Amino acid sequence: MALDVLLGLQWGDEGKGKIVDVLTPKYNVIARFQGGPNAGHTLEFNNIKHVLHTIPSGIFRENTKNVIGNGVVIDPIIFKNEIDKLKQMNVAIEENLFISKKAHLILPTHRLLDAASEKAKGKNKIGSTLKGIGPTYMDKTGRNGLRVGDILTNDFKEKYDQLVEKHAKLLTFYAFDYDLAPAEKEWFESIELLKKLTLVDSEYFLNNELRNGSNILAEGAQGTLLDIDFGSYPFVTSSNTTSSGTSTGLGIAPNKINNVIGIFKAYCTRVGSGPFPTELFDETGKKIQEVGHEFGATTGRERRCGWLDIPALKYAIMINGATELSMMKADVLSGFDTIKVCTHYKINGRLVDYMPYDICDADIEPVYIELKGWTEDLTQMVSIDELPSAMQDYIDFLEDTLETPITIVSVGPNRNQTLIRKQYA
Ligand code: GDP
Ligand code: IMO
Ligand code: MG
Repeated sequence: MALDVLLGLQWGDEGKGKIVDVLTPKYNVIARFQGGPNAGHTLEFNNIKHVLHTIPSGIFRENTKNVIGNGVVIDPIIFKNEIDKLKQMNVAIEENLFISKKAHLILPTHRLLDAASEKAKGKNKIGSTLKGIGPTYMDKTGRNGLRVGDILTNDFKEKYDQLVEKHAKLLTFYAFDYDLAPAEKEWFESIELLKKLTLVDSEYFLNNELRNGSNILAEGAQGTLLDIDFGSYPFVTSSNTTSSGTSTGLGIAPNKINNVIGIFKAYCTRVGSGPFPTELFDETGKKIQEVGHEFGATTGRERRCGWLDIPALKYAIMINGATELSMMKADVLSGFDTIKVCTHYKINGRLVDYMPYDICDADIEPVYIELKGWTEDLTQMVSIDELPSAMQDYIDFLEDTLETPITIVSVGPNRNQTLIRKQYA
């Protein structure tokens, strides 16, 4: 009878998909509340590796309802591809997937606008995933958007044409060449599939579930430092990725939120442009990237890598009200003599431990402490007690500094490579 939230505390790709899949047996419903196909959530089990973009990560577990909430933006083409793949794996889509009628649709022209806007920005580009996310949320707040429920109305094609006409004018402004016809055809074919799925008034659906005693887990996409309000603006995504986004993105009141599980990697990564105070440009950064396979699940781009950033993590814990933490990819740090952790930033000679407003422009020098590394391979370990003592010290140090319990330690991509450190509340 509770809503828990699981979300990323860094710049995305923390391993949310994996942990949602691990925790799903404790929940009746898994719900996505924001973002769209800019997300790539990887799950691994039974020798299967699967990347989900729009569909919640509870979809592989039997008897679990998966809801795409009103706060999500859906590209019908990408969505259809996802569904086709899942159907090949005999996943019960018809029975277990529910889509909010209020979720907004990404049109082919939204993708074109995303590309045109990025091109026009030149070297100041956001490094967007080019999935049309920004333009779709712009049409949502501009009150021009098309929603899933609209596909059931008689004048859907007229509504679509009107919006495309507006986009065509905008694209003239960008002087951006394009051929819309092939994508448009595929888009309308995919809309036909969407019509056959279960479209719901998700706010009623979810609140009824709560009333009937269900436990719901809200699955975040992206990460706190990409939040439209609290991230490193303008190098952010276009939605509220933080815990408050759950209420607006699902229609569940804030007083129904119970646990907030914050996920972080044992180091930091970022894909796309924007500030990254602890970024490493040396061999250590390359090693983390190689060992951690740090390449985007959606775009395949190289992820920038760096040491853990405590001021950023504390900020994320504060904004989200995180009640517990999952530490991911601990195994990747095996083999370093020392592990560095940034405890403060030095800005203009002053030590600070908060995220400055001008993070994009400030000259930030990270101040590190060094902790002893470990050499043991963690990936086969099955209990927290097996972890080397240097690693235990690393965890204890972080827990003390962050003043929040670390309940899960992940030591590999597989569902089974998950160590429960403290009993999940
Ligand atoms: P998400 O977007 O937060 O769901 O994360 P991604 O799927 O984009 O990126 C996380 C990547 O790390 C995926 O390739 C996962 O399979 C992998 N992964 C997750 N947890 C671990 C872990 O503990 N160790 C290692 N080595 N890989 C992990
Ligand atoms: P998951 O859910 C990592 C980044 C992009 C870009 C910025 C804006 O897998 O953690 P957008 O396409 O949203 O307009 O891009 O946000 N970004 C992500 N980075 N993981 C993600 O999702 C991301 N979704 C968007 O790289 O810098
Ligand atoms: Mg990802």
